[in-house]
This record gives sequence, structure tokens and C-alpha cells, in this order.
Amino acid sequence: MPTPRQPRREEAEDLATLLGDIFRLSKLYSEEQIVTTLRRAATRRDTLIMAEDGRPVSHIRTAYADVLVYGCRFRVASIGSVSTHPDYRGRGYAGAVLEASLQRMEAKRAKVLIVSGDRSLYRRAHCVSVGRIAQAALRPEQLGAPPAHVTVRRFSADDWAPLAPLHQTESVRFARPMGFMSNLPFWWNYDRPEIWLIEAYGRPAAYVMLAPPWGSDPKEATREVHEYAGSRAVLLDALPAIFEAGKINEIRVRALGHDGGLIHPLRQRGLEFVDEPLAGTHRIIDLPGLMGKLRPYLRERLEVRDMRRLSFEQQGDRCAVAYGEQRHELTLSEAAPLVLGGPGAPQLSGELARVLPAIFPIPFPQPGFNYV
Ligand SMILES: CC(C)(COP(=O)(O)OP(=O)(O)OC[C@H]1O[C@@H](n2cnc3c(N)ncnc32)[C@H](O)[C@@H]1OP(=O)(O)O)[C@@H](O)C(=O)NCCC(=O)NCCS
Repeated sequence: MPTPRQPRREEAEDLATLLGDIFRLSKLYSEEQIVTTLRRAATRRDTLIMAEDGRPVSHIRTAYADVLVYGCRFRVASIGSVSTHPDYRGRGYAGAVLEASLQRMEAKRAKVLIVSGDRSLYRRAHCVSVGRIAQAALRPEQLGAPPAHVTVRRFSADDWAPLAPLHQTESVRFARPMGFMSNLPFWWNYDRPEIWLIEAYGRPAAYVMLAPPWGSDPKEATREVHEYAGSRAVLLDALPAIFEAGKINEIRVRALGHDGGLIHPLRQRGLEFVDEPLAGTHRIIDLPGLMGKLRPYLRERLEVRDMRRLSFEQQGDRCAVAYGEQRHELTLSEAAPLVLGGPGAPQLSGELARVLPAIFPIPFPQPGFNYV
């Protein structure tokens, strides 16, 4: 089997053809655009391929970003355009490229991997369903008339500046340097997003990003919430105007599970929420490192004595969580739902069962604009 490696500059065209053919990107991204990105050394550094018969046949690109959870900042990785040429599938190439990509993520000190897909390839690498999204269908008749001081308008993410201060108020979010959009491997304008900037008394107060549900007919007039920020009260006030201006029949609200500020007022209006995991799958890359970054968060929730006794270990894909003498071993596939919430979290006993519910699950953002 060939060894995964970074692509060479002169392989950009062949790689663009491979990705263009597999993902049918041509309608949204020209091959020229893909080639231009791949000519950048920085892009190639975060890309791994497998080449055979003189051309790239398998590919994974990794994107890095920082996530902030209540002020604790840590690096996350996402993978995109995971692909193997049809003639070379089933030989373990994607698995090997993924394994090599994971080693690189570890070296780059990423703590969590976010994967937009869910399939055996990822599950075998300990990427599992985690997190909590509260989802409910909202129809215009469930809302009153919009107040006059709230206005809405369609907005382009190319102009991030007015959205940045709103996004910065979020306590669970991605850290987004100005210009982050142009550094994403590709962005999901793929999925026809609608961004609504909401102003109250003439000032930006909130935004919401909506998109048609994956694979749906855009004429269906159903939209899903993929990201929101700013005042929940203003966002709720603006919804009737968004329904009307966007000619929308139904909005599938997807609130972060810990966001009572959005969930409770909608519940009062009669919405029934169903809990779902975050989209795609997630993998813990470095459990002790992640918990180290989260120490300020733990310190606000645990007694000093409990902080001292609690520890996290990892050797390859085996992990352990310990409290004093008590030690619970777990696989990486169990560690992710334990830490981030979700099905498959292990049953704990003793002191661990007393202490861990105070800190887990840790809230985690939806990728929103960081979706790759
Ligand atoms: C998905 C894709 C990248 C896989 O490429 P590949 O080189 O054939 O992958 P591998 O040979 O490493 O693995 C193939 C399958 O065998 C499985 N497999 C590999 N070794 C295995 C083993 N020892 N035991 C059991 N299953 C095994 C993998 O989990 C994978 O399952 P999946 O395709 O259901 O996810 C390729 O099919 C592709 O390009 N598809 C189109 C693009 C796409 O859908 N990308 C993913 C977006 S989420």
C-alpha cells in the first residue's frame, strides 16, 4: 500500500479533477478555484493523499479552528473532501489517510475532531455521535406580529464585520479571525445558506443562518437553523418578519441543548423539542489535553478537593478517568459521549458518578459557518 503524504504542487490539477469528479463540485466551485487553493503551501500542509499509478487516488483535507467554551479555548480539527477514486476503493486507502491525518492533528495539538459525515470509516476511527441539539418545527402561525422596532435583512457572509461582534457574545462558539471564510477549504454555500441580520432600533442585535434541509427541494420553503448569535429576545421578535420576507413555511429550530434562553420562550409558545446529537460525528483526539484546557471551567464547578483527585489519561485509543484510587478505563468511542454527551456514555459508579455529572456534558458548538 502506498504511504499517505502531502500532495506536491504539480499534483494540484489531478487532485482537483479527483475531487471535482467525486463531489460534483463543478456547479459551485470551478476546478480552477480548487487548483488555486491547492497551489498554496499552507493548504498542501494540511492535506494528505495516497498516490498510485502516477496520480492522487485518495484524499483528506484537514481544517483547524479554535473553539471557545465559557472562555476556555482549545483547537479543533475538521476533515473535508474525504475521497478515494472509485477504482481504488475498498483497499483501506481512506482508512490509512485518515489514520495519518489523525497523527498530524495530534502533532498540531488539536483536541477534538469534527466530521460532517457518519459512516463506518469514521466510526472505526472512534468518531461517534455526541452533543445535544434541541430541535423543533416552528410555523408562522405560532408567532405573533413582529414589533415595529425590529427589522430583518438578508446578509452576505462575505461581509463578516457586522456579524463578528454578535458572534463574539456567544459563550460556546468558534473563534473566528477576520477573513476566516477565505481560509476554509470550501464552504457550504454548497448548501444555499440564508443569513438574516436582525436589527433592533436600527442596530445589529442578532443574526440567524438558515438553509434548506440537506437534499431537500429549495422551493419547499422549509429552512433549518444552522447558526445564530446575539439577543434571543430580538431573534424571537424577528422570526415573523423572516418567515414573511423569506417566503418560508417552516423553520426547524436547532438550538444548542444548553441554550435555555432560546428553548424556553419557544416552549412557552407550544413548540415541542426533541433532543438530537450534533450533526455528523466527533472524536476526542487528546482527552488529557482537552481537560487541561477546560480547567478554568472545571474550577468553577468542582470543589478544590475534587479537582485535585480527578485525572484523565490516554494511551492511543485507550483512555481512563480516575478519582483518587478509583479508575475507570474506556475506549475513545466511549470518552467522546462521556465528555460531550450523547448515546454510548459509560455507566460510572462511586466518586466518579458523583463528580462527573457536575462537569459533563461540556457544551459544544454547531460548526455553522465553520462547516467543511
Ligand atoms: C468513503 C470513501 C472515501 C472510502 O474510501 P476507501 O478508500 O474505499 O476506504 P477504505 O478502503 O479505507 O474503507 C472502505 C470501507 O471498508 C470499511 N473497512 C475497512 N477496513 C475494515 C475492516 N478491517 N473491517 C471492517 N470494515 C472495514 C471502512 O470502514 C469503510 O466503510 P464505509 O465505506 O462504509 O465507511 C470512498 O468510498 C469515497 O470516495 N466515497 C465517495 C465520497 C464520500 O462519500 N466521501 C465521504 C463523505 S462523508
